[in-house]
Amino acid sequence: MAENAPASATRPIGVFDSGIGGLTVVSALRGLLPNESIFYLGDTARVPYGGKSAATVQRYSLEIAAMLLGENAKTVVVACNTASALALPRLEETLPVTVTGVILPGARAAIAKTRSAHIGVIGTRATIDSGAYERALRTLNPEVRVTARACPLLVPLIEEGWIESPITDEIIMQYLGPLLTDGIDTLVLGCTHYPLLRNAIARLLGEKIALVDSAQNCALAVKDLLLRENLGAPEGNAGKLQVALTDPPDAFLRVAREALQLDVGEVQVRAL
Ligand code: DGL
Repeated sequence: MAENAPASATRPIGVFDSGIGGLTVVSALRGLLPNESIFYLGDTARVPYGGKSAATVQRYSLEIAAMLLGENAKTVVVACNTASALALPRLEETLPVTVTGVILPGARAAIAKTRSAHIGVIGTRATIDSGAYERALRTLNPEVRVTARACPLLVPLIEEGWIESPITDEIIMQYLGPLLTDGIDTLVLGCTHYPLLRNAIARLLGEKIALVDSAQNCALAVKDLLLRENLGAPEGNAGKLQVALTDPPDAFLRVAREALQLDVGEVQVRAL
């Protein structure tokens, strides 16, 4: 990447999520930007954010982002749809570095994919109730129709490792059936856990529904940002991944590691 990159360019990209689901964004970043070092911080002591108020999610997000700045992060990636939906403006006005969330990149990709201009969005209750996806989609195309649905049971099923299971299939269809009846042609997976269900959702919805994965699109937005700001690590820099959590890891870390084929090394624990 950047040939005349400043020395600061080898500083890590700071990535945070309410828990471990944001590793889907890390996996996409590692694939796209192998020269970049990443410091990932998952707030497992306080996960889930998806049912909490905007004020609480903002406070948590500011605290976690401050810890990433303490790790010398050159930019901050909010690898959590709930935190992006509720706290992105607060983070942008407060942090001294650039901040990338998952909502706008996902909305852009959905607008590029839809043919009928009718897009479905699924996420946590907090994400859906915030209306952040509708706003982003309508800013990009005022004519777009959006059908949004909170799917609060999907996060616990994924954390339980029930990625391919008849019960999970049944629940996915309970949630998504009305969106299909409503006529969406594109579905935004608006939660960082949901890429782990991508195969199951694709199988159940069939080829006619395009899926938009917030992890992949967020990684592309970070790549553009590093180029634009001349912040990319030099070619040949061996990017390292460090993973830290605010509470010791549980079984979900193994589920995510296996599903994403991600080598997370030794996980550190950081007290809040
Ligand atoms: N990471 C959250 C998101 O992407 C899902 C888990 C939670 O509720 O904290 O919305």
